[in-house]
Amino acid sequence: MRLFIDTANIEEIKKAVELGVISGVTTNPSLIAKEGRVFQEVIQEISRLVDGPISAEVIGLTKEEMVREAKELAKIHPNIVIKIPLTLEGLKAITELTSLGIKTNATVIFSLNQAILAANAGATFVSPFLGRLEDMGENGLEMVAQIVEVFQKYKYTSQIIAASIRNPKHVADVAQLGVDIATVPYKVIEQMSKHYMTDRAVEKFLEDWQELEKKL
Ligand code: G3P
Repeated sequence: MRLFIDTANIEEIKKAVELGVISGVTTNPSLIAKEGRVFQEVIQEISRLVDGPISAEVIGLTKEEMVREAKELAKIHPNIVIKIPLTLEGLKAITELTSLGIKTNATVIFSLNQAILAANAGATFVSPFLGRLEDMGENGLEMVAQIVEVFQKYKYTSQIIAASIRNPKHVADVAQLGVDIATVPYKVIEQMSKHYMTDRAVEKFLEDWQELEKKL
């Protein structure tokens, strides 16, 4: 399973690149707004840092607006993937952008049926939002499991990005389910690296080493 970082924060992206564990970036209008910077500039900067798919989302609500924004964003870098909300207008936009050879990421997916529509429209990626569904008391993992099963059964070529990941358990769970990618906030990448037994082992190695040095 590949990991993307889910952020528009340049410092976090730099730190994740240095770790060597991420192969793409996802953003959304809320993440961009948090940075308080010009959208196109942020996306440009990210595409200089990461050599992999970079999702940039449209904010228009009609197919025409989405396609117009998408064409502008796609000019920024060949790695740009246009994130399109899964609405009827969004499906029309995905269909048109696919025919133009522009990559898309169908986003804010909360059901298997939405994912099936996105795959049939030709979306390069589909992004089920696990955490937000769980926030509503629903079973987010079950939705992801259904999507993985059906995509494998029918050999859909859209790649599944597990999104709205909130903790390391989500990452391990979606990996076991067989998603292609998990997009993860930087904080969760850090949390994934931690284990109290690792800390304990490193401390003990150092202690034993220092004891040896005293004897020599
Ligand atoms: O970028 C899309 C998605 O991962 C957002 O997650 O945490 O805002 O539900 P969240």
